[in-house]
Amino acid sequence: MIRRAIYPGSFDPVTNGHLDLIERCARLFDEVIVAVLMNGSKHPFFTAEERVGLLREVVPVSNVQVESFDGLLVEYAKERGASVIIRGIRAIADYEYELQMALMNRRLNPGIETIFLLPAEPYSYLSSRLVKEVFSLGGSMAGLVHPLVEERMRAKVAVTPSPRSKQED
Ligand code: PNS
Repeated sequence: MIRRAIYPGSFDPVTNGHLDLIERCARLFDEVIVAVLMNGSKHPFFTAEERVGLLREVVPVSNVQVESFDGLLVEYAKERGASVIIRGIRAIADYEYELQMALMNRRLNPGIETIFLLPAEPYSYLSSRLVKEVFSLGGSMAGLVHPLVEERMRAKVAVTPSPRSKQED
């Protein structure tokens, strides 16, 4: 039986912490679907299409597919034949939100398990929200995101120079 897992998120933008988790998932499961939420934030840095495209370019492993989804995650997981949802937990602060989400997803579909993975320690404080903040204030992005992600972020602000009022994770 093929074990297929789904790793959902906003990925706005994908960080090195996300990539670390994707590699861990890819070692544990036959197939991994990285599922980008389409209409999460009202003010995303990258559009869902841009995030999907970027992920496809930087994900280093072959048994990983990148897709976008909308609506209930458990419905999407079922539609795609995934029996496991992967979420990363960086610190205890993540736990409460993740627990609520995992239990709600279990209530919605008891056949789908949520599995929490820990990223490598250097990424335990890294978030998309902080990446955007450091970027907007001109700090170094070295080690935080793939160089292509930084390049696309620079290209994005070069064409849309207005400052963003809302920074979201
Ligand atoms: O990277 P994020 O923003 O922490 O990811 C959150 C995500 C996409 C996993 C979550 O918002 C989600 O699953 N949204 C889909 C809607 C849904 O199924 N909601 C009920 C789950 S409690």
